[in-house]
Amino acid sequence: MTITSDATPELPGEGSVTDIAPEQALTTTGDEWWRSAVIYQIYPRSFADANGDGMGDLPGITSRLDSLTDLGVDAIWLSPFFTSPQKDAGYDVADYCDVDPLFGTLDDFDRLVAEAHARSIRIIVDLVPNHSSSEHEWFKQALAAAPGSPERARYLFRDGKGADGSEAPNNWESVFGGPAWTRVTEPDGTPGQWYLHLFDQSQPDFDWTNDEVRERFRGILRFWLDRGADGFRVDVAHGMIKEDGLPDYTPPAEGGSMGGAGGIDPETGEQIELPSAPYWGQEGVHEIYRDWHKVLDEYEGERVLCAEAWVDPLSKMAKWVRPDEMQQAFNFPYLETPWNAPALRVVIDESLAAFGAVGAPSTWVLSNHDVVRHASRLALTVENPQGAGVGPKTPGKPVREVGLRRARAASALMLALPGGAYIYQGEELGLPEVIDLPDEARQDPTWFRTNGERYGRDGCRVPIPWQAGAPAYGFNETGASWLPQPDDWDDYARDRQEGTPGSTLELYRLALQLRRAHQLGLGGVTWIDGFGDDVVAFSNNGVTVIANAGETAVELPADLLDAEVLLASGTIEGAILPADTTVWLAR
Ligand code: GLC
Repeated sequence: MTITSDATPELPGEGSVTDIAPEQALTTTGDEWWRSAVIYQIYPRSFADANGDGMGDLPGITSRLDSLTDLGVDAIWLSPFFTSPQKDAGYDVADYCDVDPLFGTLDDFDRLVAEAHARSIRIIVDLVPNHSSSEHEWFKQALAAAPGSPERARYLFRDGKGADGSEAPNNWESVFGGPAWTRVTEPDGTPGQWYLHLFDQSQPDFDWTNDEVRERFRGILRFWLDRGADGFRVDVAHGMIKEDGLPDYTPPAEGGSMGGAGGIDPETGEQIELPSAPYWGQEGVHEIYRDWHKVLDEYEGERVLCAEAWVDPLSKMAKWVRPDEMQQAFNFPYLETPWNAPALRVVIDESLAAFGAVGAPSTWVLSNHDVVRHASRLALTVENPQGAGVGPKTPGKPVREVGLRRARAASALMLALPGGAYIYQGEELGLPEVIDLPDEARQDPTWFRTNGERYGRDGCRVPIPWQAGAPAYGFNETGASWLPQPDDWDDYARDRQEGTPGSTLELYRLALQLRRAHQLGLGGVTWIDGFGDDVVAFSNNGVTVIANAGETAVELPADLLDAEVLLASGTIEGAILPADTTVWLAR
């Protein structure tokens, strides 16, 4: 067997991408780029900080674009950078059509789009339509207006229960903990109505049955499309419509905080289906997306929508990507599947079948800004529902080496699958979750709203390391950082990994190059049997992919011995595939 995992294959059409004019590169129609794209999620607060205030910003992102060209991604999804009081890290938007000064200006956004397009990288903007910030002009008007007024009708205001209206209108809990309703004080000083917020109380939910809300959002879509955005990641795309009458509901204890995504039961291989909540996955959301699809169609190029919809089973999620709705939906059942071969085979099969049934590609994702980084999550030894987070007192803490080994193997498996793939900044460096954040540094509303019972999501949001030994690891020049970075991150720094054979960064670079060269994103999965229960093995466009998710090494069959090793997530010797290792072979 020849080991060539450090080889850099020649790529079709690779050239000096910066020479391509933006229009030429990105307004092609008919190529449906999103079907096989690798999309890199940037969490602007934590990617790169140009002005040194400890908070990442748009100019910081622009200055680091070459690192993404080098990695080989097709598009960037930017988490929110809009005007916001930052009560939920920007997912509380006060002005949908401006940039918060923390992150820069609209000019900085335009520059970022132009520079990205010049490198053939598309830009996807985060749209937060379920709720605004309580500092949004509309919400301020609603508070100043009377019950029953058109201003209040843009949100979900209701009278309280009980003789004096002092009980919340129903029993719904906020995703971040605590009640989903807050009572307002009316302009005349008396205790008044209640408003619904599925998230923090600073995030009032819009009433999406109101045409004014719909019209405003069409305008917001056009605002960013006019500025060159290639699409939108749609926040809480399963929550915008609530069941009529807002009936009481108590979620099952085992569900994640966002609902749905029960995942695959590793014991039975069955998709775990949780009862649906009166605020998640209601049928009425679909007409909104059909409407937005038409708005995107007004524009040249292939503009896209990607749903954050935590619904299950996958056949239900596939409704979000029917031909006249969105192009992609995050495959959360895949993300939630443990590192377990039978469960992985089931979720891959179900994903390809469910999305394929509506003519959509599957997506694949392992990490994002809301979940424990997979370099830690895959080595947790006790249940950890989405939103719980990991902190100093969490039982079953992951062993770092085990987590990294599994993460590399899991990423190598994911990047060989047909469809679109999402990478969360820092996973290409093998970054673990930061578990030991001091309590006083934590900022996630989940932490506060549950009185520290749930750690929340700060641990996956720490600014990423660029340069070993530098202030803030090169995140900026001043050393400031909105969340403290661990002391032992030198070895994860990008500069240490660049060009270093076997580093996680080089593994990702190679995987993306090979993925493109062999068109794996456009291929298909043909299962290969005979490796035993702990192995996931398939071929895709002539590449044989074998992932050993078990605890013992597996011997590869003799007929594979003269295969060329294109990529390996760990060290391969002879015909032995160690535990927690994925290999790509070509014959
Ligand atoms: C989505 C975002 C998350 C945010 C929530 C409320 O789930 O990904 O970060 O807190 O919506 O907007």
